[in-house]
Amino acid sequence: MSVEKRINELTEILNTHNHNYYVLNKSEISDYEFDQLLKELQKLEEENPLFAFTNSPTKRVGGDITKKFKTVKHRFPMLSLSNSYSKEEIEEFDTRVRKLVDGDIEYVCELKYDGVAISITYENGQLVKAITRGDGVQGEDVTANVKTIRSIPLSLKGNYPQDFDIRGEIVFPLAAFEQLNKERAEAGEALFANPRNTASGTIKMQDSTIVASRGLDCQLYQLYTEEPMFKGHFEAVKGIAEFGFKIPSINDNFIKKVNSVDKVMEFINYWNENRIDLPFEIDGIVIKVNSYYKQEELGFTAKSPRWAIAYKFKAERVSTVLEKITYQVGRTGAVTPVANLKPVQLAGTTVKRASLHNADQIEKLDIRENDTVFVEKGGEIIPKIIGVDFNARLENSLTTKYIENCPECNTELIRVEGEAQHYCPNSLGCKPQIIGRMEHFIGRKMMDVDGLGVETVTQLFEAQLVENIADLYDLTFDQVIPLERMAEKSVNNLLAGLEKSKKVPFEKVLFALGIRYVGETVAKKLAKHYKNIEALERADLDSLVAVDEIGERIAESVVDYFSNEGNRIIINRLKEAGLQFQIDESQDKQESSKLAGKSIVVSGVFEMSRNDLKKLIESHGGKNGSSISSKTDYLVRGENMGPSKLAKAEKLGVEMLSEKELLEMLRD
Ligand code: IVH
Repeated sequence: MSVEKRINELTEILNTHNHNYYVLNKSEISDYEFDQLLKELQKLEEENPLFAFTNSPTKRVGGDITKKFKTVKHRFPMLSLSNSYSKEEIEEFDTRVRKLVDGDIEYVCELKYDGVAISITYENGQLVKAITRGDGVQGEDVTANVKTIRSIPLSLKGNYPQDFDIRGEIVFPLAAFEQLNKERAEAGEALFANPRNTASGTIKMQDSTIVASRGLDCQLYQLYTEEPMFKGHFEAVKGIAEFGFKIPSINDNFIKKVNSVDKVMEFINYWNENRIDLPFEIDGIVIKVNSYYKQEELGFTAKSPRWAIAYKFKAERVSTVLEKITYQVGRTGAVTPVANLKPVQLAGTTVKRASLHNADQIEKLDIRENDTVFVEKGGEIIPKIIGVDFNARLENSLTTKYIENCPECNTELIRVEGEAQHYCPNSLGCKPQIIGRMEHFIGRKMMDVDGLGVETVTQLFEAQLVENIADLYDLTFDQVIPLERMAEKSVNNLLAGLEKSKKVPFEKVLFALGIRYVGETVAKKLAKHYKNIEALERADLDSLVAVDEIGERIAESVVDYFSNEGNRIIINRLKEAGLQFQIDESQDKQESSKLAGKSIVVSGVFEMSRNDLKKLIESHGGKNGSSISSKTDYLVRGENMGPSKLAKAEKLGVEMLSEKELLEMLRD
């Protein structure tokens, strides 16, 4: 088969599987098989760029960098909706509509997605442009980033209009958002505040590879064609499914056609109660007149259509008594104050506890025990204390004095300058830290020990059989079998699980050790750079911060960890037990050793994605560094690089290369 034919065939196969998976929610092929086909297409496209489609499914993984987003005018202005908050206001809207148009009115009720608005243009069945709302008249061209959102078709099917816009909301699904924050917490990075702002920040990132990795989704809500193709909005939503678009599920009541205010209210009330179960956030309901003909008759005000209105949910708020402030100690020793509340019903659940975050937050809101506090739950899952009802404050109330000693082991707490959290420094002797570290160690993304769960770890600790992660590998059948709820099979499973974990690769072992700020990604970087634990143990601050993406805070934490003798003893015991403490070099594919031993810093924006550039450097034996020092051999200089880096490189006489010069250097 000719290369061109195979590229066409693979494109079609991959498009179909993408549509099945991301739009229709069914999968007919394993992830592995999909990846193999995608890799084959990627390779063919690289070798034969002339045959590659601009909308190839390979665009889904990103790679394109947008140096500066172009400002583009919208074909139809992007208006907003007027808001309402009560049944009376919906009735007023209905009265206005009925005054302006004759005949029966049908409304379409749908979810008001809480994300960022996007306008997408399709020409001849191809996605050609995606523009942010901007000021409503013009927005930014974020096409490369939007192409990575897999539920948005790049090429259409069926009898689509030749030229049209479709609009929708880019949302951060809650599961993906929580996962992202979890990874950031593990790496000790600042957490993102909410899914909406994170979606908005993500869609404007320069590197589409990062956008692709974040798992954004898009909910489409409006079709814009020159000539109406359907008789109404509801019919349009159903119709566009035929072109390959994902549409809101009618069966799940995501969208509904109704003919009275009472039915509109029924829809609103249903979602006010059930929105907590949705996999993304919504902040209200949108009500639209269905008929396109009637929409045209109703027209627009300067700011919004007269044929639609938004009903905004109120963030539910209740007041209750804060009975006691307690303090929780996590695996890294971080102390979190917790508000123990008089149980109260809020947005469908009973709330008993809420995080108070840290000492600053308590001080800022002047929160005290026995205060009546306001608790709020918006779309998000965790309730928040948003303030104190000072009118209800008791006369004898006392300002909260933050604890000075660990509530678990009584060690004096420390607070590092510039950080919000207090820490218990007694890492090797404080129970929740010991158990927390073991829990982390056996976790799925770390040592993945089958047959050993959180409860068993606590049981083993309480029976004084384990005190640290190294003790786990000394456990014997005879020690474990007498414990409650243990049987021969479960003990054998546990021991087999531990045995199997000895094969887990070094980068995961490093992550499993639970060094503060060393999350999954950082562990990978460190393992790759230092190759074995001995080299990492010897690394000083200068060497660590010179590693790509390793900042001072992580570097200090690593040095701190290895300077603790207790930790070094544990690592030696784990080594003796047979865990992997060096990388498996055979897995590293080396293109050449042209850059062997060279330390290279890349800075600025490039034609190729920065990640690809770094991978390329590594595949030729080079090491990526993050900051320029006397040890840096080359600086690969892109556009818009920071002046201070440039000045430092000049001062130290570091050789500078352009992207093109580097590629030439690596050419055979
Ligand atoms: S229709 C002419 N439908 O809410 C206005 N908008 O406050 C067409 N939004 O800018 C908008 N879900 O970003 C519409 N189902 C939905 C929506 C929705 C969320 C956003 C949209 C709009 C804003 C208006």
